Amino acid sequence: MLRTHNCGELNIKNKGSKTTLCGWVHGRRDLGGLIFIDLRDRYGLTQIIIDPEKNKEAHTVAEKVRSEWVLKITGTVQPRAKGMTNQDMATGEIEVRGEKIEILNEAKTPPFEIDADVKNEDLRMEYRYLDLRRERLQRNLKLRHDMVQVIRRYFDQQGFLDIETPIMVKGTPEGSREYLVPSRIHPGKFYVLPQSPQQLKQLLMVSGVDKYFQIARCFRDEDLRGDRQPEFTQFEIEMSFAEENDVLDVIERCFVELTEKCAPEKEWKKFLDKGKFRRMTWHQALSQYGSDKPDLRFELKLTDITEDAKTCGFGIFEKSEYVSALRVEKTLGEFSRKEIDDLTELAKQNGAGGLAWYRVGDGSGPVAKNAKNEFLEAVKQKTGSSDGDMIFFGAGNFLSAHEPLGAVRLTLGDLFGLRNENEFAYLWVTEFPLFEQKDDGTMGAAHHPFTMPHIDDIGLLKTAPLKARSYTYDIVLNGVEAGGGSIRIHDRDLQHRVFEALGMSEEEIQMKFGHMLKAFNYGCPPHGGCAMGLDRVVMLFADEPNIREVIAFPKNQSAQDLMLGAPSVMPEKEVREQNIEVIKD
Ligand code: AMO
Repeated sequence: MLRTHNCGELNIKNKGSKTTLCGWVHGRRDLGGLIFIDLRDRYGLTQIIIDPEKNKEAHTVAEKVRSEWVLKITGTVQPRAKGMTNQDMATGEIEVRGEKIEILNEAKTPPFEIDADVKNEDLRMEYRYLDLRRERLQRNLKLRHDMVQVIRRYFDQQGFLDIETPIMVKGTPEGSREYLVPSRIHPGKFYVLPQSPQQLKQLLMVSGVDKYFQIARCFRDEDLRGDRQPEFTQFEIEMSFAEENDVLDVIERCFVELTEKCAPEKEWKKFLDKGKFRRMTWHQALSQYGSDKPDLRFELKLTDITEDAKTCGFGIFEKSEYVSALRVEKTLGEFSRKEIDDLTELAKQNGAGGLAWYRVGDGSGPVAKNAKNEFLEAVKQKTGSSDGDMIFFGAGNFLSAHEPLGAVRLTLGDLFGLRNENEFAYLWVTEFPLFEQKDDGTMGAAHHPFTMPHIDDIGLLKTAPLKARSYTYDIVLNGVEAGGGSIRIHDRDLQHRVFEALGMSEEEIQMKFGHMLKAFNYGCPPHGGCAMGLDRVVMLFADEPNIREVIAFPKNQSAQDLMLGAPSVMPEKEVREQNIEVIKD
């Protein structure tokens, strides 16, 4: 190595020793005579002091170096002068007397200061290699590495086999649009990039692998947000002869290990229920928190008032299948007209027609004007309200009566600062519906079509499929869906019936999933699994607001890599070789 030490390891015990350090110029102060250089590498910063009286040659070099130049500095470790020590730095008690400085490389002035909080994200992405020099991102990369080591060790110890599955696979409609890869040697045919290794891990169960594990790359061509990337990573498992509790238990213990080793400062035990992560069904989560991924760091629960609303005198409520109330205690704060308008807009964006409200006691708000007094009294009792409290209402079908209030609840969490950022509230949400109504009115699999229907609801497949529950579970951390999975169908006929219930023709079933049905003919064990979004979990552990901060080279919000310039136009010859014709315009 060109160095004897790194920039984070010298301390007072090294006093008097010779050292050679390599790194980047983090900062340089020229005090007329003495020059100070902070030399940086991944491990830390070391202060170098160059005295023209003692080391003239080194001083001449130090005079011309600039930020981000790469240097090799040889010198002697000495204690810092009295009053100049820095207890917050590992190397804060010492400095190195620079005796020889070699310039390993010069650098242009960077487009942003490495230390600064840069707001222009496109600029950060274009110069991601410089962005990654920043301490915060170096810390995130290290945390991600540490977490991956814990995950690998854990699943290895539990007897899971780490098996790679292919990246070029067959189109497997799992919900999102897929990335296509044209085949050069099979004109007109395509591979797709996997949305997840779902079918392959199930086929590995047919192979008798018993316990599969992988840190897998997944690709989804979907609309991007803070916690979504087109290319992301899952840590994921599949287990044979396992029931729901077995899968939940294995994953839960992995999260306990991760938390204890990689986020020991977080408070998470207060959210446990008899020593285990809390559990609630999808139905309970929506009814009580208006979300299938409730943030349990604060309460503010919804109250069901459907029965009282049936004869309340307010037409919209009377006609609604469900009516729900969210009470906000007066002590939390008052609402301005603008705040109510903003919350109404938010409720609308989340599927409500509007946001009805009522301030207890003073008779203000649209509900008080329309509904009978007995109803207002009943709501006051049921929600445990006192005069001055605010009540927001949700009305409609199961989703539209609850989800808008769920969104309002989260915003109130921000508005009143109800979250403790140092807490980790883990939760399992179970018994998701098997199917869901899609935007175009058709029915789709709520998770994916391989999910086992709830044993009590198999009869509903033909009669009322949207009412059927499934053995699907999500692990939620602080209101973020960290992962999800299910017990799978292992019976050929049942799998076929589910495809049929999804409205697929025999031809379509064979074309898309013939290989799965074929494999199920050869002794498929009962099995189930789960997949966690690694990027999302690291994001939560790193207290970062979006997953781009924990991915070395992420895509931006328009799915571009601004550093590489991807996607890019390809030479026409190469495109032709793929039997592809680009339609201009
Ligand atoms: P699912 O689609 O729920 O399940 O994905 C599992 C987890 O992956 C993460 N995730 C994402 N992270 C970043 N960017 C994305 N675009 C993105 N999409 C999903 C989430 C999510 O909870 N095959 C099933 C798992 C199974 O049944 O075993 C699957 O992929 O954290």
